[in-house]
Amino acid sequence: MSEKATITLEGKNFELPVITGTENEKAIDITKLRDLTGYITLDSGYKNTGATISQITYLDGETGILRYRGYPIEQLAEKSSFLEVAYLLIYGTLPTTDQFDDFSKKITRHTLIHEDMKRFYEAFPKKAHPMAVLASMLCTLSTFYPESQQTNRPWEEVETTVHRLLAKISTISAWAYKNSVGHPVVYPQNKYNYVENFLNMMFSMPTEQYEIDPVIVQALDKLLILHADHEQNCSASTVRMVGSSHANLYSSVSAGAIALWGPLHGGANQEVIEMLQKIQADGGNYKKWVEKAKDKNDSFKLMGFGHRVYKNFDPRAKIIKKACDDVLNKLGINDPILDLAKQLEEVALNDQYFVERKLYPNVDFYSGIIYKAIGIPTEMFTVMFAMGRLPGWIAQWKEMIAAKEPIGRPRQIYTGETERNYVPIAKR
Ligand code: CMC
Repeated sequence: MSEKATITLEGKNFELPVITGTENEKAIDITKLRDLTGYITLDSGYKNTGATISQITYLDGETGILRYRGYPIEQLAEKSSFLEVAYLLIYGTLPTTDQFDDFSKKITRHTLIHEDMKRFYEAFPKKAHPMAVLASMLCTLSTFYPESQQTNRPWEEVETTVHRLLAKISTISAWAYKNSVGHPVVYPQNKYNYVENFLNMMFSMPTEQYEIDPVIVQALDKLLILHADHEQNCSASTVRMVGSSHANLYSSVSAGAIALWGPLHGGANQEVIEMLQKIQADGGNYKKWVEKAKDKNDSFKLMGFGHRVYKNFDPRAKIIKKACDDVLNKLGINDPILDLAKQLEEVALNDQYFVERKLYPNVDFYSGIIYKAIGIPTEMFTVMFAMGRLPGWIAQWKEMIAAKEPIGRPRQIYTGETERNYVPIAKR
């Protein structure tokens, strides 16, 4: 007999089904709760609420496990490539050689963006944050491909949107940077692979061809893999929520980019470097800043620390910390910021406040140091996260549409005024 949960309300018992995932995760299915009992559940920030049933990513925050489609993140980061991982997330299986070649070719074919889009770049202020530019441009793509706005399109047609998005995000992102520094944009070139192409568009100049360094390509590819999906996080949930109203895929991932931008989510990587630079400029007294982070009367938080689901360690942070050492060694860079980060981590990890709350370095703590070492400007850090996360957003959107999930529409408990009569302004 399948397991049931019994809930007692106002002296009556109600039975609700229990759902068990393939990794033995358990949930009480409350889909019928309101119909049966008149009650809803309340869970601010969805800390205990499963929003969907998913086959994409498995994450165990207690033991620090992260797997895409069953494959451990450690193996993928070491042996795979970002495009292969993108295929895995979106299609559910690792590609054969033919499938991978076809997928890569299609993405390469779509890297150019419409010339008319250049006019948007010209209109943005030079100081525009590249995340604002990225999100705007992702949504703008839907105006160039209006057929994407039709609902219930067959997957073969949606697939072109998927290829376009994966291809164009690197051009859009690199051009956002070029625009911010007032340099001419660099067009994509088919001879390069995904990461090489991005680096070339970022750093080549009319005066000087950028020399592609395999150490940098490898490091960036690894970072993109580590960011590729993270189950029902804030931005993926946003993509699913927006997509559930049948908004098109371009707009749905644009909304995801905006959710990612916030400093509590992907925006933390920029905040981490800025925090470390601030501590360094303040004389490097990191202990003082740890004390500030603990002080409830101080709004300062240790950026790059803590996670909603990881309560032991963030497996991505572990891989990135090692990659960070490797990259800096190989490039011969001695960045005092890395030493500061390590000292800060050491103090925080041994401090009762952080131990009790299970606060550990997350993916963003060390990623900024690698981005900095390979020349990515600070304001572009979250854009790099978005480029990595795009296949995850697409996979989450695809799964949600395929499952014909209903429109996302939470309920609430109202605590405002009860009914009262309108009083004309002269009588108030
Ligand atoms: N520094 C100091 N105290 C912290 C921190 C921090 N970074 N993070 C959490 N706490 C404290 C928090 O004040 C609370 O204390 P108390 O129980 O005394 O009220 C306790 O730890 C639990 O924190 P919470 O805010 O209830 O936890 P949450 O799950 O709602 O938030 C978080 C998770 C990631 C938003 C939060 O830890 C945070 O703001 N961290 C800094 C920002 C950051 O690094 N974000 C990137 C997350 S990883 C990238 C991604 O996947 O998005």
